[in-house]
Amino acid sequence: MSSERLLGSNNNYNNDADNDNSSSSEMSLRFRGRLCQFFLILLFLGGGLLFIIHFLRQQPAINQYEILKNYNRNHRYSRLTQGQPRSILLWNAFFGDRRWKLPDDTLGPDYFREQRCPVVNCVLTNNKDFLPAIEMFDAIVFHVAEHFPFLQPVPRRRNPYQQYVFALMEPPGETKHILGNEERFYNLTMTYRLDSDIFWPYMFFEDIESGYIVAPSLNPTWRTVESMESSNDEQLDKLIAGKKKFAAWFVSHCDTLSKREELTKSLQKYVNVDVYGACGTLKCPHNSSKCDQMIDSNYKFYFAFENSLCLDYVTEKFYNALNRQVVPVVFGGADYTKIAPPHSYINAEKFKTVKELADYLIYLNNHPKEYARYFWWRKFYRLTSRSPFCDLCSKLNAPAATEKVQFYDDIENWWLGGSCYFEPKILL
Ligand SMILES: *[C@@H]1O[C@H](CO)[C@@H](O)[C@H](O)[C@H]1NC(C)=O
Ligand SMILES: *[C@@H]1O[C@H](CO)[C@@H](O)[C@H](O)[C@H]1NC(C)=O
Repeated sequence: MSSERLLGSNNNYNNDADNDNSSSSEMSLRFRGRLCQFFLILLFLGGGLLFIIHFLRQQPAINQYEILKNYNRNHRYSRLTQGQPRSILLWNAFFGDRRWKLPDDTLGPDYFREQRCPVVNCVLTNNKDFLPAIEMFDAIVFHVAEHFPFLQPVPRRRNPYQQYVFALMEPPGETKHILGNEERFYNLTMTYRLDSDIFWPYMFFEDIESGYIVAPSLNPTWRTVESMESSNDEQLDKLIAGKKKFAAWFVSHCDTLSKREELTKSLQKYVNVDVYGACGTLKCPHNSSKCDQMIDSNYKFYFAFENSLCLDYVTEKFYNALNRQVVPVVFGGADYTKIAPPHSYINAEKFKTVKELADYLIYLNNHPKEYARYFWWRKFYRLTSRSPFCDLCSKLNAPAATEKVQFYDDIENWWLGGSCYFEPKILL
């Protein structure tokens, strides 16, 4: 009995213990539920808080328009809005010409307007006393194909907002300047290279219909070459029929880096080339209209051979030929597809051998209709020129123009490094 009771009580005890156990697990469940609720609420509140913070951060704490207005009222850039012209100083001469072939020593916005520049708010001068101090000019342009002035090679003082411009049209081999001494000096480049800050080619191609400048540019879009049938131009056919001579070459420098003289000598084994100027036997005043007419009516081809095979380097020889009634044969380091319309010239560097080039020229000479196709583009494009100072003026007038700090760490490397090659691709 007692043992039963004991057992019973044990049982009871056990039962109680069971009861206890079950109630405590219920409690812990409830507790956990609460905890969960608590955390959910916390999460919810936290999320809400974050949202509010985020929302508040989106809202301007202060009036940004007011800041903008105050800034421009108080800041040095305000002179831009006041319309004060940006000043450009030509530091040295351009091949002895203090005016750089421009019409006057000092040119104001009127000149830029005449040039049809998009921005005209500039003054261009070669007068160092035009402003009270040299460091007040917004830009100083250095012609790097010539020595700097002996007495004062470069400005004595420089203001960090000034742009020093590296300007030249000569190829690297003709630079005649120790660029290694001019590290971290120039801020902008102004050359015929397409990757210059200010692009300065001899000429541009303009689409006659749209008026847009198409090339030279890094990625020009050309119209497609007209088919042979559609280019029926009696006047042109007559002109071509009258051309009885093969090729003309005008040249004054006889020994060049590009070995163009060897190319001509090689070509002369297969075709007739009349050489005018210092390195030839024939004479014709270089810039006379008589000479131009003589070329137009007599010659099929005109050699525009560059003295160096350098990136983007194409001289006025090529553009002059395109302005004539003659087909240029080019030899240079440029990618001519970026320079001139397709089928407007014959690129010697695209032929494996001189004989192949000569054969093609002979083929064109014997097929006037094929030859005439090289004139297709004249209906669609014309050559125009534009002052590089247009671009410089636009850059100087850009909002907060001086905020973008840039300079050429090693201008010598930019200009000389890998920009030319010395072995022509065509086998001489
Ligand atoms: C040819 O150029 C010279 C200077 O280089 C100039 O004096 C002359 O007037 C020019 N002739 C023509 C016909 O343009
Ligand atoms: C121009 O280059 C010089 C370094 O040669 C630099 O100190 C200056 O800030 C640059 N200016 C601009 C406007 O980039």
